[in-house]
Amino acid sequence: MGKMRTQSAPWRAAAVLASVLLVGGVAACGNSDTGGGAKDDGKITMGFSQVGAESGWRTANTTSIKESAAAAGIELKFDDAQQKQENQIKAIRNYIQQKVDVIAFSPVVESGWDTVLKEAKDAGIPVILTDRSVDSADKTLYKTFLGSDFVKEGRLAGEWLVEQKKSATGPVNIVELQGNTGAAPANDRKKGFGEAIAVNPNLKIIASQPGDFTRAGGKQVMEQFLKANPKIDVLFAHNDDMGLGALEAITAAGKVPGKDITIITVDAVKDGMQALADGKFNFIAECSPLLGPQLMDLAKKVHAGEEVPARIETEETTFTQEQAKEALPNRKY
Ligand code: AHR
Repeated sequence: MGKMRTQSAPWRAAAVLASVLLVGGVAACGNSDTGGGAKDDGKITMGFSQVGAESGWRTANTTSIKESAAAAGIELKFDDAQQKQENQIKAIRNYIQQKVDVIAFSPVVESGWDTVLKEAKDAGIPVILTDRSVDSADKTLYKTFLGSDFVKEGRLAGEWLVEQKKSATGPVNIVELQGNTGAAPANDRKKGFGEAIAVNPNLKIIASQPGDFTRAGGKQVMEQFLKANPKIDVLFAHNDDMGLGALEAITAAGKVPGKDITIITVDAVKDGMQALADGKFNFIAECSPLLGPQLMDLAKKVHAGEEVPARIETEETTFTQEQAKEALPNRKY
């Protein structure tokens, strides 16, 4: 930190104006917790742009990042983009201006990042992608990716269904609640699930629409599915929250979730695991939000100029109803 100096009145006025403009600039890009420029105090400063607060998974992920930064002694500048790519781009530009040491973010969609990532690279600020990746052809625009194999999650969900329905003699009608359009987990889970069920021509996706990873979205789209399709056998929801929203629509339509309609989701947050243990969901493919500790380790390495792997995948599992009952008491999120 620079030394304090006494200032004359015009200088004080200019300094106040400058700090008002700086804080205003940060606030304009979302809900930032901290502002200010880079400090020369030896501490690593990370600028983090979060997607939003759309799901239980996201809340757990934000908590993990904030707690891990504090534990690692990393100063965190946090911005909630409220599901908007433009907010994430503004936040990243602000972090570049502030000369943070490392930028990390979870991209709301896969495409459209090259320009801002190039700006960070030109400014010499390393970028770490976490949770979701980007589709940039130039892999030198970021240092590493830390997160899940979303295709595998979709595939595990599909393979479980194939096994359950192996003796089906007629069509099994599946509806799919996708995450937000263009997001890596929406694209990849759809792909993995579709590839897995392709082995059995009886398994048919009869409707597939985005529910934006939210409970409200899941409920609303499931209501439409139920109105338009008299026979729905299976729901594949790309996350627990949409599945939980869909439960309300299914019950309101006079059907029994988990029995009349088989429900498969992804995440395994506590509320989802409770629904699984209660017999309302049938299967969950896990997606871990606890990325904070690994992210902070990577930030330290990248800041020190150490080589890091290009991609680091989280270890994950799957849960049946019985397994959920066992795991619930120790579930951390
Ligand atoms: O990117 C991870 C996904 O985003 C989670 O599955 C979902 O719950 C979240 O909103």
